[in-house]
Parts: sequence; C-alpha cells; structure tokens
Amino acid sequence: MTDVTVIGTGVIGSAVVRACADSGLEVSVWNRTRERSEALAGRGVRVHATAAEAVAASPITLLCLLNYAITHRVLDEAAPDFSGRLVVQNASGVPDDVSPLRERVEAAGGRYMEAAILNYPDAIGTGDCFAVYGGAAEDFKELGRVTAALAGKQVHLGADPGYVKAYHVVSSAFYYAFVNGFLECSAIAETMGVPLGDFAESVPLYDPGFQNTIDVGLGLIARRDYTFEQAPLTSHLDVLDNLTGIAERAGIDRSYLGVMRERVREAMDQGYRREHIAVLTERFRSRRAAVHGRRP
Ligand SMILES: NC(=O)c1ccc[n+]([C@@H]2O[C@H](COP(=O)([O-])OP(=O)(O)OC[C@H]3O[C@@H](n4cnc5c(N)ncnc54)[C@H](OP(=O)(O)O)[C@@H]3O)[C@@H](O)[C@H]2O)c1
Repeated sequence: MTDVTVIGTGVIGSAVVRACADSGLEVSVWNRTRERSEALAGRGVRVHATAAEAVAASPITLLCLLNYAITHRVLDEAAPDFSGRLVVQNASGVPDDVSPLRERVEAAGGRYMEAAILNYPDAIGTGDCFAVYGGAAEDFKELGRVTAALAGKQVHLGADPGYVKAYHVVSSAFYYAFVNGFLECSAIAETMGVPLGDFAESVPLYDPGFQNTIDVGLGLIARRDYTFEQAPLTSHLDVLDNLTGIAERAGIDRSYLGVMRERVREAMDQGYRREHIAVLTERFRSRRAAVHGRRP
C-alpha cells in the first residue's frame, strides 16, 4: 500500500505529488497521458496502469483532473472500488457539481471531501500554499499527513463539501478581476510609454490601500450605509471618463473601465453622490431581486 493516490498529474496534480513525496509520503499516481505521470516516478512515487489500480493502492485518493465532467468520465471508465477510502475532489467547479460526484463516491463505498487549492502550483508544499476543504472533521483529520505536505494554510471550512466550491467561485471572481486589471494595465502602460516593469515596482506600495478598500467596503456593504467621507462617488467619474478614453486608445475592447464609468453614472442618476464606490453593489442586489424575485 502507498499513503496517498493522485488521479490526474497535470500541473496541479504533479505539484501535489511532488510535495507529498518530498515530505516522505508514498504516492500512487495515474494519468491519462502516461508520460506525464512517468516523469514523476521514483522517490516514493509509483505509476499505475489504471485509475482503479491506483485508487486501490492507498486509503486516500486526491482527484486532480481538469473538471467534474472529466472526473466522471475517468470514473466511468475505471469504475474504481472506493470501499473504506477517503476521496478528495480538487477540480474547479460550482456547488451544483458536488452532489452527483459525492453520491457516486459514496455509492462506491467511499467517504467524500471537497478541496480547492487557491494558488499557483509553485506554492504547493511551501508556506504560501492556501487550500480549503469541506467534509467531515474526522476525514479532514485523516488527511493530516497530506495537508502537512501541501503546507502553508490548510483550512477546514466545515462539514458541507458544496460550500468549498462556493468559496472557490468567490475566490476565482476576485482572481480574474485582478488578472483582467493587470492585462488592461499592461496595454495602457504601453500606450502611455510607461514601462510595465517600472510601474510593477510600485505595486507593493499599494497593498495597504487595497486592503483598506476591502476592509472599508466590507463594513459598508454589510451595513448598506455607504456614507464615507474619503473618495465620494462623484470623485470617480472624471477619472473613469479619462481612463475609458485611454483604454480605447490602448486597443482594449469591452474594458472594465467603461463598465465602471457607466455604473458610476447610473448610481449618480439615482441620486448617489457622496457615497463610497461600494454603493455600486446595491445595483447588483436590486437586479438579483428583480431576476430571482427575492428581497434585496
Ligand atoms: N494550474 C493552476 O494554477 C490551478 C490552481 C488552482 C486550481 N486549479 C484547478 O486544478 C484542476 C487541474 O488543473 P491543472 O492546472 O492541473 O490542469 P492541466 O495541467 O491541464 O491538467 C489537467 C488534468 O486533467 C486530465 N485530463 C484532461 N482531459 C482529460 C480527459 N478527457 N480524460 C482524462 N484525463 C483528462 C489531464 O490529463 P492529460 O495529462 O492526459 O491531459 C491532466 O491530468 C482544474 O480544475 C484547475 O481549475 C489549477
């Protein structure tokens, strides 16, 4: 027997395998493209010919395939016996994906947990790793040697596996907002003749400001009272007007800057003036209520 099995050795699965092996765990692996798993062989890593054989080799299986559809497809073909095994799904998805996979694993005799690794593969096995889990507390405890190997911050979010994917959706929305901001920023930097590297040096200086926006925004959104003396809504419109024009010159189509400008305009049309820009979230609440018939 090995300590843990990893099904799917793409970039995330391979990083998980390496971290587990580096920490002294014996690891079984299976991957559709065998060369990718063979590259990990040795140093406590055993490559298996089938997913069923790999699952049978360990008490814990970590599923690290691309998505839920592919996970089901792999399980359709392999039909592994999960009796007495703890199965942890790591693929990205949405909460609705969770129950069908959970039922399938439980029907095959396994216990089920959800996980989401919230950073790049390079962070796995380092102090920067951040992963969240949902499932029974005793199952999370059983994962102890694996979570110790992945290192950093390994957080049990509670008994509901579906909540992990809800959390991951929120985290992904934040991540893509950041990535989009960076991509548009790179085009604007080129247009303005500012070397992106020069700008990038200043980014860490903004960290306290970003944190402050979140801290302040959290309180205002929770209270639904957006009174805030610094940076009222009216102060954003001219800036966003300028930036929208520059984004167009920079060749950015469908820029978020134009979207932000329109949102600020609409909020001002509704009479908001001195409020914090977090007041724009009220629009989403109203639309949710209109679309889903719920109270805002
Ligand atoms: N990369 C990241 O930074 C990151 C961070 C957090 C979470 N994640 C999540 O981790 C999951 C895996 O992502 P990844 O970055 O490791 O992707 P990846 O490198 O593309 O690996 C995808 C894995 O799925 C397998 N696969 C794809 N299509 C298949 C099929 N039809 N049949 C069988 N196996 C198939 C691949 O096998 P082959 O090698 O045979 O193609 C490989 O093992 C995703 O849900 C992703 O959202 C990724």
